[in-house]
Amino acid sequence: MELKKKIETKNAKIGVIGLGYVGLPLVIEFVDGGFDCIGFDVDEKKVALLKGGKSYIKHIPTERIMGLIDSGKFDSTTDFSRLKEVDCILVAVPTPLDRHQQPDMSFIVNTSETVSRYLRKGQLVVLESSTWPGTTEELMKPILEKSGLRCTQDFYLAFSPEREDPNNPEYSTKTIPKVVGANDSSSLDCATTLYNTVIVRTVPVSSTQAAEATKLLENIFRSVNIALVNEMKMILDRMGIDVWEVIEAASTKPFGYMPFYPGPGLGGHCIPIDPFYLTWKAREYDMPTRFIELAGEINTDMPYWVVQKIIEALNINGQSIKGSNILILGAAYKKDVDDVRESPTLKLIEILEDRGARVDYNDPYIPVMPRVRKYAFDMKSVELTHENLKKDDCVVISTDHSCYDYETIVAHARLLVDTRNATGGVKKGREKIIKA
Ligand SMILES: NC(=O)c1ccc[n+]([C@@H]2O[C@H](COP(=O)([O-])OP(=O)(O)OC[C@H]3O[C@@H](n4cnc5c(N)ncnc54)[C@H](O)[C@@H]3O)[C@@H](O)[C@H]2O)c1
Repeated sequence: MELKKKIETKNAKIGVIGLGYVGLPLVIEFVDGGFDCIGFDVDEKKVALLKGGKSYIKHIPTERIMGLIDSGKFDSTTDFSRLKEVDCILVAVPTPLDRHQQPDMSFIVNTSETVSRYLRKGQLVVLESSTWPGTTEELMKPILEKSGLRCTQDFYLAFSPEREDPNNPEYSTKTIPKVVGANDSSSLDCATTLYNTVIVRTVPVSSTQAAEATKLLENIFRSVNIALVNEMKMILDRMGIDVWEVIEAASTKPFGYMPFYPGPGLGGHCIPIDPFYLTWKAREYDMPTRFIELAGEINTDMPYWVVQKIIEALNINGQSIKGSNILILGAAYKKDVDDVRESPTLKLIEILEDRGARVDYNDPYIPVMPRVRKYAFDMKSVELTHENLKKDDCVVISTDHSCYDYETIVAHARLLVDTRNATGGVKKGREKIIKA
């Protein structure tokens, strides 16, 4: 097989479509691994930044992008006719939900149409976006075959879910084993050979559908377990028991337990969204996805529960939510990242403002609140000064960024609602802290 030889000798050229949180680290791995690589994106701004040697993702330092440029092995473009130049096409475009909480497949469809236009014999196409089981076979393949070329005979097709965990200090794209599925042995062989050159280990599965379902199982597992601890949090709170203490104690069991942590709600482009891709597909088979729906219900309710705790906290000081000044710390969906997609902070702002509160936020990584799927807040991060902390009626920790000095925050806040147990180690001023 010509393509396999080209991959093994690193003479294959790689194209990555979608240069976001998933696509850009992939590009870096392939260039580091000795491959020539072209990054494709519809976003001209991203391409211009990359060409200028700049990063637009906080945990990917600019030096890494400079390294790509200096290697002479990387180019980025919005010109998709250059897909003809590459041998392997990896697709990492968004898979959000639409207004009705149904899979928005437009990015995959548009990309497939584009690839189909330029597809040539002998190329490998791999979808990496998280999606419902059947997407590669039922949706992508027919569009690619509009080119007149046939899968297996003329081109190879596989699915390999991305397991990127932005800013995880222990694991990176290279060190996370990669599941690969295809519906014919040649495609599977090509795709596993490709990832084996740069990723620590590949895990072949028997079909694209099995690989798609694997990714969903991983994310559903997280969503359900987070919902479980969120429910435990509410029950134990009513009983006057600290859920954080209980989780810490339970975590000492050396087998059969894995800690998950409660919070103000789910965030990010994966956990709040991917489970509903299975729900949507399961309807075709007359199957309800009860665990997913129940977890979704509990997790979706979390920001409302946190607001209720803020109301109770203000009440202790004889204040009402209407007319109060609230400062939220952390806009990103999780600590130490610069991504606000689906962040529970956005929902918190919406509910608090609806209740008549004046809301500010601080996030060192989100200087200006970007427009996202459901929200377009016109807000800028306020400075985290002693004065700002003091002037607000309540400070709410929504995201527990490591750079925050929690001792100082507690010392200067009048009242503090902590959704992440970020102040767990703070000794002084505990009477001002309410966990939520
Ligand atoms: N972010 C994560 O941590 C993570 C982890 C695992 C899996 N995933 C999955 O990976 C996929 C991509 O997620 P992401 O976080 O990288 O998204 P992202 O929004 O950061 O990046 C997607 C990129 O695709 C580009 N794009 C959109 N339409 C395009 C098109 N038609 N052609 C070319 N480029 C196009 C966008 O401009 C953007 O740069 C999603 O399916 C997501 O669920 C994400």
